[in-house]
Amino acid sequence: MKKFASSLNNKKKFLIFGCGFSGSFFAKTIRKLGCTALTSSRSEKKDPDSFVFNSDTDTVPNKKIFDGVTHILSCIPPDKNGNDPVLSSLKNKLKNLSLEWAGYLSTTGVYGNTKGDWVSETDQPNPLQKRSHKRLNCEKEWVESGLPVQIFRLPGIYGPGRSAFETIKNKKIRVISKKDQVFSRIHVADITNAIIYLLENKNSLKFHQIINIADDEPCSQIEVIQYCYDLLNLKMPKPILYEDAKNELSPIAQSFWMENRKVSNKLLCETLGYKLIYKNYKIGLKNCYLNS
Ligand SMILES: NC(=O)c1ccc[n+]([C@@H]2O[C@H](COP(=O)([O-])OP(=O)(O)OC[C@H]3O[C@@H](n4cnc5c(N)ncnc54)[C@H](OP(=O)(O)O)[C@@H]3O)[C@@H](O)[C@H]2O)c1
Repeated sequence: MKKFASSLNNKKKFLIFGCGFSGSFFAKTIRKLGCTALTSSRSEKKDPDSFVFNSDTDTVPNKKIFDGVTHILSCIPPDKNGNDPVLSSLKNKLKNLSLEWAGYLSTTGVYGNTKGDWVSETDQPNPLQKRSHKRLNCEKEWVESGLPVQIFRLPGIYGPGRSAFETIKNKKIRVISKKDQVFSRIHVADITNAIIYLLENKNSLKFHQIINIADDEPCSQIEVIQYCYDLLNLKMPKPILYEDAKNELSPIAQSFWMENRKVSNKLLCETLGYKLIYKNYKIGLKNCYLNS
């Protein structure tokens, strides 16, 4: 594919709402390209590039923060009432900015349970969990906001500092086996790089409002954990059958095991031409192992 001149440069200013795991990775990377990136958190930080935003306490950023903003990315989940924190506090403010682009990190939970089948962006969402209904409502709010929004549906996010290695180290690992159950996942670097790829090639690629970002290889949780133990040169504990373990799991953990789907990345990786850095959990976990 012909590569056009990058549309990302030092004239671009990003506001990143929610500087958690994915938001901080994105901010760090986009700054390396010369862009300005200011990030939000709910409490004051010493970092001069950060500002306070908390929809629960109505704490909104001051006017100056919005000066010259060209792009925003929201990495904040729905609030406890199911509203989108950014839109419920700042929609009018954002609409007055004439933004070039707005990104929203959502979840593949909106697809619900497909009993192990593949899901793609053309499938009708069919949320099973209450939180996924809330999420779908937030997606709708973004679409209807009138902002130039692109929604990214993500499966389980992992990367250095947040992977099965940390669970093993904290001795919180539970090796659970459930027949035919798979999970999809994505390395945090691929979320950032896929978004940057789409922004850099905005003028040459057809715009899609909803895009899955997932790796090529959905698989069972046991395969992932076994691979971590192999890298650590340790013996994996004996797996427990899901039926025997489920009553001891938290409601949130149980809810993850109630859904079984494979998330397709064909739109992103075939139609739009993004090349994954970490195509599967083995390559991604090696990166976590070397950087933990
Ligand atoms: N983790 C996963 O595996 C996964 C999978 C699929 C989709 N997602 C979704 O993808 C997005 C990014 O995920 P992540 O794991 O990178 O996020 P994360 O690390 O959990 O960070 C979430 C951020 O949201 C901020 N936040 C939460 N409630 C807020 C509120 N009411 N007002 C203002 N800020 C608020 C937090 O602020 P503080 O920094 O002050 O805590 C934090 O910076 C989230 O929407 C998440 O639900 C996550």
